[in-house]
Amino acid sequence: MKSFRDFMEEKVREYYCSPREKFSAGGDFFTAPELDRVFGEAIADFLYHRLREFEEPAILELGAGRGLMARDILSYYRQRDPDLFRRLRYFIYEMSPSLIDRQRKVLRDFENVEWISRFPKIEGVILSNEFYDALPVHVVKEGRELYINEEGEEVWLSLENERVKEFLERMGYASLKQRIEVCLDCIELLRELSESLIRGYHLVIDYGYTSEEIHRFPEGTVLGYKKHSISGDIYREEAMDISAQVNFSALMEYGKDFRLKTLLYDSQRNFLASIPHFLSELESLGFEESPEAVERLSRLKTMLISMGDRFKVLFQSKDL
Ligand SMILES: C[S@@+](CC[C@H](N)C(=O)[O-])C[C@H]1O[C@@H](n2cnc3c(N)ncnc32)[C@H](O)[C@@H]1O
Repeated sequence: MKSFRDFMEEKVREYYCSPREKFSAGGDFFTAPELDRVFGEAIADFLYHRLREFEEPAILELGAGRGLMARDILSYYRQRDPDLFRRLRYFIYEMSPSLIDRQRKVLRDFENVEWISRFPKIEGVILSNEFYDALPVHVVKEGRELYINEEGEEVWLSLENERVKEFLERMGYASLKQRIEVCLDCIELLRELSESLIRGYHLVIDYGYTSEEIHRFPEGTVLGYKKHSISGDIYREEAMDISAQVNFSALMEYGKDFRLKTLLYDSQRNFLASIPHFLSELESLGFEESPEAVERLSRLKTMLISMGDRFKVLFQSKDL
C-alpha cells in the first residue's frame, strides 16, 4: 500500500523517463511551446528589460520537455540583443534522460546552455511551463488521506501527516467537505528555488486554481492523459502522464515565507495579450494568406482562447 502522493511520484517518473513519444500529434499532449515559437519569444520579450538589469543574467528552466521554449527564448535574444545573449546563461533542470538527449539536439547551436541536477545560485529568472502540475500531491478528504493498495484500489486512512494538516489550516481548507490536493513538494521546491535565486524573478505557467475556485473541483483535479484524452483508469494503466492542477493560492501564500513577492497573477490569455511581440505576430499573420500563416494564426488563437483561460501565469520577484 502506498500513499497517492508516492504512487503519483512513481508514475510520473516512469512516464517521463520512458523513451516513448509524449509530445504533439504522435504523443499524449500538446503544450504551448509545441504549438508555436511565438510562445517562447513572447516570454523572452516580457522578460527582456528585466534580464538586462543583471550583470550576469541567468535563466533556469524547470522541466524543459523537448527544449523548444529554451530554443525560442535564446533565438529571440540572439537576434534582438547580441550583447545580452553573450552574457546570458541558460540552465535546464530536467529529470528525464531521454528528454535531455532531445534537448541537447535541439539546443546544439547554443553554447550557453547547461543541464543541472542541483540548483545553482543565480541572478535572473526561474521559469517553467507545465512543470508544477507534474509534482505529486497528497489527496485528503475530511480527516482522511488517500492510499492505493496492491490491487490498484483506493483506500482511505486517517490523516496523520502533520505538514498536510498545517497546510489545510493555513490555507483555510480544514472544514471543507471535498477532496483537497496538497502539494508539499511544490512548497519544498519554492524554498529551494528561493535559495537558488539571489535576486530575480519566478515565472510559473500552468493550469490551476485559487482558493476561491477550489469548490469547483469537489472530486479534485488529478487526471491521467493518454493519446490526447483523459484516461479513466490511472491505477492500472502502465505508462501515463498524471497531473494535478496547481494551487496558485498556495504558491502565493507560501512564497511569502521565502521572500517571493507576487507581482502578477492572471490568465495566459491576458498575459500574452499584454506582450507587444505576441500582438505584433498576431497582427502580421492576420494580413497573410499563405496556408502556413493561416495555420499559425489558428495556433496563436488556441494559446489565447482554449488554453488562454485554463492556463494561469504567476510572476513573483525576490529581493528586488
Ligand atoms: C508536461 S512536460 C512540459 C514540458 C515543457 N515545459 C513544455 O511546455 O513543453 C513536463 C516536463 O517536466 C519534466 N519533469 C516532470 N517532473 C519533474 C521533476 N520532478 N524534476 C525534473 N523534471 C521534471 C518532464 O520530464 C517534462 O520535461
